[in-house]
Amino acid sequence: MSHNQLDKKSQAWSALFAEPMSDLVKRYTSSVFFDKRLWQADIAGSLAHAEMLAAQGIIASADHVQIVSGMAQITADIEADRFDWKLDLEDVHLNIEARLTQLVGDAGKRLHTGRSRNDQVATDVRLWLRDEIDLISELLVELQRSLIEVAEKNVDVVMPGFTHLQVAQPVSFAHHLLAYVEMFSRDAERFTEVRRRTNRLPLGAAALAGTSYPLDRERVARTLGMVDEAGNPAVCQNSLDAVSDRDFAIEFSAAASLCMVHISRMSEELILWMSQNFGFIKIADRFTTGSSIMPQKKNPDVPELARGKTGRVVGHLMGLITLMKGQPLAYNKDNQEDKEPLFDTVDTLKDTLRIFSEMVGGQLNSATGQKEGGITVNATAMEAAVRKGYATATDLADYLVKKGLPFRDAHEVVAHAVKAATSHQVDLSELPLAVLQEFNPTIEKDVYEVLSLHGSLHARSTLGGTAPSQVRAQLERHKGRLLLI
Ligand code: ARG
Repeated sequence: MSHNQLDKKSQAWSALFAEPMSDLVKRYTSSVFFDKRLWQADIAGSLAHAEMLAAQGIIASADHVQIVSGMAQITADIEADRFDWKLDLEDVHLNIEARLTQLVGDAGKRLHTGRSRNDQVATDVRLWLRDEIDLISELLVELQRSLIEVAEKNVDVVMPGFTHLQVAQPVSFAHHLLAYVEMFSRDAERFTEVRRRTNRLPLGAAALAGTSYPLDRERVARTLGMVDEAGNPAVCQNSLDAVSDRDFAIEFSAAASLCMVHISRMSEELILWMSQNFGFIKIADRFTTGSSIMPQKKNPDVPELARGKTGRVVGHLMGLITLMKGQPLAYNKDNQEDKEPLFDTVDTLKDTLRIFSEMVGGQLNSATGQKEGGITVNATAMEAAVRKGYATATDLADYLVKKGLPFRDAHEVVAHAVKAATSHQVDLSELPLAVLQEFNPTIEKDVYEVLSLHGSLHARSTLGGTAPSQVRAQLERHKGRLLLI
């Protein structure tokens, strides 16, 4: 079949078919309008394959030269947005191959030697995802950096720590932010792990069983940067598995879902903190919208949308894992359905990470070298909220334990003290010494230091606790880990 025949008949396997595909079936089965996004990976994979074919003497080096020049033309055309993507040619692979053949003739037709679209597409998706994971990892560093920068300025700012959304104990605002840094650092670890298993080469598996040509798969892996930590080529070791499993995409979307869940939890807190009832923080106006009817409103649209988009990413995980569950070995067309959820997951996660880094940490003003427009912290409102909630009640109990009371008894004594303070609408620290002594005679003047927010915070100095000394140590650790110092 000549190259224009391939173009006209528009199917690489046409000779066998008695009738053409209907338009509806064409539309239903084609993927080019979304998988064209894989074009760079597709060309990179083809070039690595062609180079190896020539090195192994499977194609002539003149053919290789032609393929390289044809691909350069195609790259330029796609980049300039003048490549004519054809629905008739089904997917990105057939579109590029047909155009190559149109440009360079027989050399183009030799490219597919020892290869199938089955190992080709698995390779493309892996290459594409690997590079996206690298971008996501950078964005995760940026987000952690933003959180760390805000935390550094707020180590001594006291806010209520909550359990059950009830005021529990005073915590440093920096400590609260660093909890998210921990979550995002684990997300980054997960992506690194997924990257390792994604960055392995399916090419050479051919349709499903391997091929009779003397391919050098390790050479192709090296060319494509598919190597392990030791720099050895990373090649899928079973051809059936190589073309069929999409577990790397599934575990990527699991890692992405967890990361979005962390973002979503943070969103929920930002939304609460911004509400009039808390008033703990403000986010810059550019991340909020007004109401068309209530002139006083500033709605936290960005965090709300992030919370909403988390549902969408988790939905894609469900889609991908369900896609896999009924498939016998080896390749099935079902797998074409992996792309849209995967693409949307990557886009949503990247946009969300970008927007959160900026919303939390602000934007760099190149004139001053400072970041501007991050969240504004209202330390007074945070402190007032802690004072309302008897957050130092545990400290009073701990004080009594140090005086010799068993903890359970101390707990009971403090419950009575809180009841009394509540009925007088004062904080524990506002009860006169004589009143406190009625609850337990061992209480002395030094109790007021224990009942102060400052005293409570500094007392919690276990490793990982909220005492400013601990929080500062954690800040240093994170900065070292992220190479920020
Ligand atoms: N567009 C297909 C996909 O995304 C490429 C592989 C097609 N292979 C096949 N034998 N039909 O999975």
